[in-house]
Amino acid sequence: ERPEPTIFTIFGAAGDLAWRKLVPAIYDLFRDGWLPDKFSIMGIGHLHTKKSQYLDHLREGVEQFSRHGKPGKESWENFVSHLDFLEADLEQKQAYQDLSDELERIEKDWGDKAQRVFYLAMPPAMMAPITEGLAKARLNQRREHARIVVEKPFGSDLESARELNRLLGRLFDEKQIFRIDHFLGKETVQNILAFRLANAMFEPIWNRHYIDHVQINVAEKLGVEHRGHYYDKAGALRDMIQNHLLQILCLVAMEAPITFDDNEVRNKKVDVLHAIRDIPPSQVHEYAVRGQYGGGWLQGEHVPGYRQEPNVDPESLTETYAAVKLYVDNWRWQGVPFYLRTGKRLSDRITEVSIQFRPVPHQTFPARALLDRQPNRLIIAIQPEEGILLRFESKQPGPSLHLTPVMMQFFYKEAFREEPVDAYETLLLDIMNGDATLFMRADQAEAAWGVIQPILDVWAEQRPTDFPNYQAGTWGPEQAEVLIAKDGRTWTLPTILQCQEDI
Ligand code: BG6
Repeated sequence: ERPEPTIFTIFGAAGDLAWRKLVPAIYDLFRDGWLPDKFSIMGIGHLHTKKSQYLDHLREGVEQFSRHGKPGKESWENFVSHLDFLEADLEQKQAYQDLSDELERIEKDWGDKAQRVFYLAMPPAMMAPITEGLAKARLNQRREHARIVVEKPFGSDLESARELNRLLGRLFDEKQIFRIDHFLGKETVQNILAFRLANAMFEPIWNRHYIDHVQINVAEKLGVEHRGHYYDKAGALRDMIQNHLLQILCLVAMEAPITFDDNEVRNKKVDVLHAIRDIPPSQVHEYAVRGQYGGGWLQGEHVPGYRQEPNVDPESLTETYAAVKLYVDNWRWQGVPFYLRTGKRLSDRITEVSIQFRPVPHQTFPARALLDRQPNRLIIAIQPEEGILLRFESKQPGPSLHLTPVMMQFFYKEAFREEPVDAYETLLLDIMNGDATLFMRADQAEAAWGVIQPILDVWAEQRPTDFPNYQAGTWGPEQAEVLIAKDGRTWTLPTILQCQEDI
């Protein structure tokens, strides 16, 4: 379904997010016919360059990041005819009045009222001036037909997230607010619920009686790149675990919603966050491990350590790696550990969820048949490959009885023969259609901060003395191996790599 006439205003249209993600995603939606005929993108802020240069720059971004590759002349010109830019100082009241006038001018041309989306792709310090500016110009009116989208970081701890929610809540209705977490737009992340709830076979065993533990692994090969300013104040726990990994955990652990209604789904997710066991400060070291990368080798190339990256304090104590063990205290998950792990400059880029099942209750086969016994494991592969894999025991061909683990595999690429759309495309279209299912509600964001707050507090107080404690190009610090080994388990990564080597 195509959205109603829409004017999409981007605050920060000259920034990196707009260049790399927003404009290419909107362009792809446009190319594929998802956008309404009456559609306009309004960039607002300072361009610091001529408009023609700015458009060339956007075109380069589209060339690099669009699913459709390099745009043809006609299709680009057609797209650009929907694009406007308003030069304005966002700290001045006038900017919002000018914006309001512009929006009205467009609507007048259309002879139609439009829904208005205000996308804040700006540093957190600009959140208050922009939201207040919008409200003063009465751009927060029109109920659900005016929507505000906020990017992360959504606060830097529980208290600042609450403050942000108070600010937004004072000026906008919760229905108008879309807090974006781009992981939730990824195909396979969305598929977690489809897999669980549209199929009858796994849900009956999706609980403590059959599941031994769950792992959520998000490994990145990239370092901090040019984001040192932001990242050095954030770190892996805030940057990844508070949002992306905890949201994946919610999808794996939540109860079945009655309907696919946005608030119903979000209620069930927030229940999981509330059920996560508090970590007492004295036990943080048993539940959480941090690391920072030093220089090392990645695919034959030497890469610098975190402290040598641009805009990073040369004595930085910020973690670029975090591993956390959590328990969900409810009937379904009592006693089942969830291990979450993420890091930069690891050996490969892989995101996967692994659900490991318990051993069989009674062993029928003689020990000599079970030389390579491995527990059943379900892998939800999110990137770079998207798919679902199931590891189970099978009889090896031959006259003697030997059991060996094998993999059953479903890959998106093979099954559907098309590239999955980018997460931002899905999410931007949802915003234009007013569907908030994949977006964070105020209470969800706060509950997620609540989960990691004890770790943040203890880590801030107890400064690490061993940083850097892992080399770029490895799988992270040794302490993370210890965290899971103490429970008699190991990290599963990189299953998909092994699996690809096997085939
Ligand atoms: C962002 C983080 O939210 O997600 C980045 O701020 C991280 O540090 C990125 O690199 C990972 O996203 P993706 O989609 O590339 O896996």
